[in-house]
Amino acid sequence: MKILFVCLGNICRSPTAEAVFRAVLAREAPGLGIQVDSAGTAGYHIGEPPDPRTRQAALRRGYDLSSLRARIVELSDFERFDLILAMDGENLAVLKRRAPRDFARKVRLFLEFAPELGVADVPDPYYGGPNGFEEVLDLVEEAAHGLLRHVREHAADPAAP
Ligand code: 4NP
Repeated sequence: MKILFVCLGNICRSPTAEAVFRAVLAREAPGLGIQVDSAGTAGYHIGEPPDPRTRQAALRRGYDLSSLRARIVELSDFERFDLILAMDGENLAVLKRRAPRDFARKVRLFLEFAPELGVADVPDPYYGGPNGFEEVLDLVEEAAHGLLRHVREHAADPAAP
């Protein structure tokens, strides 16, 4: 199974989700064989490592994002990945527009997997204060556990509702 996390720039939210979900898998479900990646709907930062504020906040919780590099979502991603998880409603709308019709059902909001939060979007921290980076981590950590529960229950068809 392959899961892609998507935000706008691929330097704050989606690399955080990639690293957190990978850590949850390593700790709680090693051997499940899930591949994880991230990308952005925009190409402003292609080839760059995650934002320094994102890297620092993540490292304080034990996630090392230093090897990640930003890339843009490609058409082939819609075929290659089994689940494509948008960080906010705007990312979702862009992905739905770009997705070939056969693959549109793979595109979902990441926070669907944490309905107890009552929040739809992981807010973009890029133009906000330092607390925004902690908020991203709080939301992403919660949803990563919900996503693991979902993929365990729907291994045969991860895009199932
Ligand atoms: P991200 O945050 O989508 O969580 O990676 C952003 C990073 C950069 C920009 C916007 C959002 N930007 O406009 O450059």
